Amino acid sequence: MLKIAIVTGSTRPGRNNEAVSNWVYHIAKERKDAEFELVDIASYNLPLLDEPMPPLWGRYAHEHTKVWSDKIASFDAYVFVTPEYNHSTSAALKNAIDYLYREWNDKVAGFVSYGGHGGGVRAVEHLRLIVAEVMVATVRAQVLLSLFANFENFRTFKPAPQHEKELNAMLDQVIAWGGALKGLRFETAEKAALAGE
Ligand SMILES: Cc1cc2nc3c(=O)[nH]c(=O)nc-3n(C[C@H](O)[C@H](O)[C@H](O)COP(=O)(O)O)c2cc1C
Repeated sequence: MLKIAIVTGSTRPGRNNEAVSNWVYHIAKERKDAEFELVDIASYNLPLLDEPMPPLWGRYAHEHTKVWSDKIASFDAYVFVTPEYNHSTSAALKNAIDYLYREWNDKVAGFVSYGGHGGGVRAVEHLRLIVAEVMVATVRAQVLLSLFANFENFRTFKPAPQHEKELNAMLDQVIAWGGALKGLRFETAEKAALAGE
């Protein structure tokens, strides 16, 4: 069974992220074709990247990085729930991604975003480029939530019914690709073991 993390994208006090991420989690966990866990970046208390070595080497100096590394390494796929900040994702999510490298490699991600009229679409476009560099494949289907249409007073999350269908369509793609990439990771690990690495 694939293990999929729903990763929050905001650490701001009073964030809308909590309601959106909880909505994603509650729908996802009804599925029988994968296991889901909510991973809240806020509870990992990551400072602005403070590791002396590049993440590619995986030689972490700090306990907060080791804890984050173990958590992210334990998943096959990710659903990033991102707000749009100045036409991009949040600095907090970018920082959390920057901390690691191999933990993300050869895995798949899908996106749920929220923001003004665009529903966070520009944040996801940026995020796709960012995660490509850590070798995460991204699925086409995504969920865009407008603060005007899906929140009351920009604060109380009231998603329109069609978004549940969109969310499940995105999860279908994440699970399909996640299964394919799990096979690739297995083959790579087997080759490395045979080569004595
Ligand atoms: C610093 C900042 C910049 C923002 N820039 C944008 C933006 O460029 N486009 C947009 O649609 N919404 C923008 N917003 C609105 C946010 O998407 C909205 O406030 C959202 O609720 C923020 O997520 P959070 O509450 O989970 O932190 C911005 C909000 C903040 C705080």
